[in-house]
Amino acid sequence: MKKVILAVMVIAFALFIALPNLSWAQEDLYKAKCAGCHGADGKGTPAGKKMGAPEFSSPVVQKASDADLADFIENGGPQKKAMHAFANKGVSPADAAKLAVYVKTLK
Ligand code: HEC
Repeated sequence: MKKVILAVMVIAFALFIALPNLSWAQEDLYKAKCAGCHGADGKGTPAGKKMGAPEFSSPVVQKASDADLADFIENGGPQKKAMHAFANKGVSPADAAKLAVYVKTLK
C-alpha cells in the first residue's frame, strides 16, 4: 500500500514539474504567464496598465502580425523589453506563436 501511495506521489510530482513545459492549451498558458499583467480578458490589470500594457483590443495589437507579436512575447520585441523575454521563461517558439493568435481573440 505504501508503495502505491509513494508511486502516486512521484507521478504527481513529476507532472507538477513537467506541466509548465508541456504544450497545454494556450488559454492555460496565458492565464499562468500573462494574465497577471494583461488580465484574463486582455484588458490589462491595474499593475499591467501602470507598466503600459496595451489592451489587446487596441489597434497596436490587432494590426500587428502574428510573427511580430510572437517576437514580442518571446523576446520583448525590437526593444527587448525584459518583462516579456518569455523565451527564457519556459515559453517555446511554438507556444509564443499560439499565444500571439490567442491574444488577438481577447477583444
Ligand atoms: C510583467 C507584466 C507582463 C507580463 C507578465 C506579460 N506582459 Fe505583455 N506587456 C506588458 C507591457 C508593460 C506591455 C507594453 C510594452 C510596450 O509596448 O512597451 C506589454 C505588451 C504586450 C503585447 C503588445 C505588443 C505590441 O505589439 O505592442 C502583447 C501582444 C503582449 N504583451 C502579450 C503578452 C503575453 C502573451 C504574455 C504571456 C506570455 C505577456 N504579455 C506577459 C507587460 C506584461
